[in-house]
Amino acid sequence: MIKKGIILAGGMGTRMSPLTKAVNKQLLPLYDKPLIFYPLSVLMLAGIKKILIIVNKGQINQFRKVLPEKNNLGILIEYKEQAKPGGLPQAFTIGESFIKKDNVALILGDNFFYGQSLTNILKKNINLKSGAKIFIHPVKKPHLYGVATLDKKNKIINLLEKPKKTKSNLAVTGLYFFDRKVIEFTKKLKPSKRGELEIIDLLNIYRKKNALKAELIGRGGSWLDTGNIKDFYDAANFVSAIENRQGLKIACIEEIALKKNWIKVKNINSAIKFYGNCDYSTYLKNLI
Ligand code: G1P
Repeated sequence: MIKKGIILAGGMGTRMSPLTKAVNKQLLPLYDKPLIFYPLSVLMLAGIKKILIIVNKGQINQFRKVLPEKNNLGILIEYKEQAKPGGLPQAFTIGESFIKKDNVALILGDNFFYGQSLTNILKKNINLKSGAKIFIHPVKKPHLYGVATLDKKNKIINLLEKPKKTKSNLAVTGLYFFDRKVIEFTKKLKPSKRGELEIIDLLNIYRKKNALKAELIGRGGSWLDTGNIKDFYDAANFVSAIENRQGLKIACIEEIALKKNWIKVKNINSAIKFYGNCDYSTYLKNLI
């Protein structure tokens, strides 16, 4: 079972741009709410209530203004700083005292997931006892991501980081479930050629022990990596199109908490006060 989750909202090594150095990108609005709401909503949908957010040095207060620790979500949020971006697996050494001896989920702060099938996939996999799980999704340009090659029995036979050539179109998305061995295995990693610890190397340790499984997010779900500005705006347009069509918000974290009975109407009222007069608050008002 996974009860803890980490959101890596730091610079993430090569993702560090002058923009994210000054203001954390995860706090910029992706359409009508900060980007951080989206990965947070995925962990909440999975039923995870203990969350560690790892941010760049000096940015904790920026996050607390958006997501206070004493929030109205019925969940526990902790923060830790990443002194220097050194790769995604750093999340597990920075988060060692948070993880303790438990299993843990990791989601990258700029990954966007959407779709009915997603909730089912999360529910199905949250019971992970041992080993690790990746979530894969078909993409047109696999060379931009970690890529998994599966055999006919869906066994992962190959995992490569941004391969120049590959026959597989299955990208490894930025959502990972790990058992408690993740800290021990992270400590065995050596920096890659780009000078960072690589999540693919960590996953390959599990794979070589026959302890890594892949779950496909198929056509019924969407995954976008908002790592670059074009993708960021594509995701914002996607959210705008869906929300304005359906009148339902994507990643409304209070709505998720209310549906899970983690909070009461009074919490929604204080959230409305906290956010002030905006479209998001109007949506919350209509909820109750
Ligand atoms: C990272 C991982 C890559 C994964 C991607 C998902 O890449 O290294 O395996 O597919 O996140 O967003 P980055 O975007 O940091 O280059």
